[in-house]
Amino acid sequence: MVSLCGILVLVLVNSVLSSYPEDEEGANNLFQSWKQEHGKEYKLLGEDFGRFQIFKDNLKLINKLNGMYKGKMTFAANKFADMDPKEFQSKILMPKRRAPTFESSRYIKSTVNDPLPDSFDWVPKNMVTSVKDQGAAGSCWAFSTVENIEGQWAMAGKPLTNLSVEQVVDCDGMEDIPGKNADCGVFGGWPYLAYQYIMKAGGLSTWSDYPYCSGDTADKHHPEDNCMPCPAPGFNASLCGPPVPYCNMSQSCVAKLNKDKFVNGLQLSSWKAIDQNETVVAEQLMKIGPLSIAINAELLQLYHKGVFEPHHCDPKNLDHAVLLVGFGKEKTLFGEKSFWKVKNSWGPKWGLNGYFQIKRDVGMCGINTQVTTAVLSPPNK
Ligand SMILES: *[C@@H]1O[C@H](CO)[C@@H](O)[C@H](O)[C@H]1NC(C)=O
Ligand SMILES: *[C@@H]1O[C@H](CO)[C@@H](O)[C@H](O)[C@H]1NC(C)=O
Ligand SMILES: *[C@@H]1O[C@H](CO)[C@@H](O)[C@H](O)[C@H]1NC(C)=O
Ligand SMILES: *[C@@H]1O[C@H](CO)[C@@H](O)[C@H](O)[C@H]1NC(C)=O
Repeated sequence: MVSLCGILVLVLVNSVLSSYPEDEEGANNLFQSWKQEHGKEYKLLGEDFGRFQIFKDNLKLINKLNGMYKGKMTFAANKFADMDPKEFQSKILMPKRRAPTFESSRYIKSTVNDPLPDSFDWVPKNMVTSVKDQGAAGSCWAFSTVENIEGQWAMAGKPLTNLSVEQVVDCDGMEDIPGKNADCGVFGGWPYLAYQYIMKAGGLSTWSDYPYCSGDTADKHHPEDNCMPCPAPGFNASLCGPPVPYCNMSQSCVAKLNKDKFVNGLQLSSWKAIDQNETVVAEQLMKIGPLSIAINAELLQLYHKGVFEPHHCDPKNLDHAVLLVGFGKEKTLFGEKSFWKVKNSWGPKWGLNGYFQIKRDVGMCGINTQVTTAVLSPPNK
């Protein structure tokens, strides 16, 4: 009986999922409505045709993936459906790299004594701000860092506040020369270095005082309003690669940063890393607040929902930083599955209202290899 039900449901799931048209006319109709839904307008000559070819290839890929994973997780023609996976890698993700390790005193080590609850979530506890959109920039590392600090600030009893990601993208040129890592603005960076920048800078502005603009290339009618921030002071071209070919000095850190606007009392005294053991990570998440993490995110491009658990996902090649906010268990046809809940920075329309779930306790995609948090100075009375 059980297996019969299982088979019936599987067949149903399969037929519902393999539904994207692959023929020219069907795909084109879908492309037209998809462009409208996502406000896409291609201005360059021939771009519409080129994007349509990519879109069609992605529909085939999505159908294939949905057939392969049989409803365990699903993929969809989301906002990234007009991007070739290689283009996605270079524009949205960061260059792939190994997780750095730190001296042992940097790690919070702990043995878990109390059993963990089945599920836990910082979002309804009001420790997580709204989902943001990094746009076409490799600035995820700055979102992950700043969102961890937003949580720490709220955990300290302060009002939940959107803090400035753009300040970090514009101003943080930190480098770790022995580790061969650096913060490179829209070309990627590391939360562990960004904490050190904020310590050095002495504070952080609010999002509204220093708004995000880096990924924004939308307004082609008024190119003078486009955001063209300059490389951060200290930008190391030998570690980061060549800087942007053109930038607007009045949008640089030097022109925009105003220390008088730093959030009063918000300062970092240190930063910590968390042991790779995912039971320890869960315990520390509950104790500390939302944590900065990094993963290999290649296959997340077309993710729709479900617990992300790709067959191939190299945990040693990190290319995306995000925010760990909770965990849970899901009952499926295949048994019980535990997962992490993660906040992404690809806007609220992507995935599960801007979040995704990913398999827990197996080091999935390197999720446990770069877990870090800021430590705030005790706020002044
Ligand atoms: C992870 O930590 C838990 C709790 O301290 C412990 O029971 C478990 O053995 C650890 N797992 C590994 C693989 O070290
Ligand atoms: C953060 O910004 C978003 C988008 O502007 C806004 O909707 C939200 O209310 C803000 N959150 C807080 C806590 O101020
Ligand atoms: C540079 O940025 C400023 C402020 O956003 C803007 O007013 C100006 O027109 C920009 N200049 C150019 C050449 O784009
Ligand atoms: C940039 O990084 C290289 C290591 O790749 C280092 O030798 C050099 O000193 C750095 N430059 C600056 C200006 O810090």
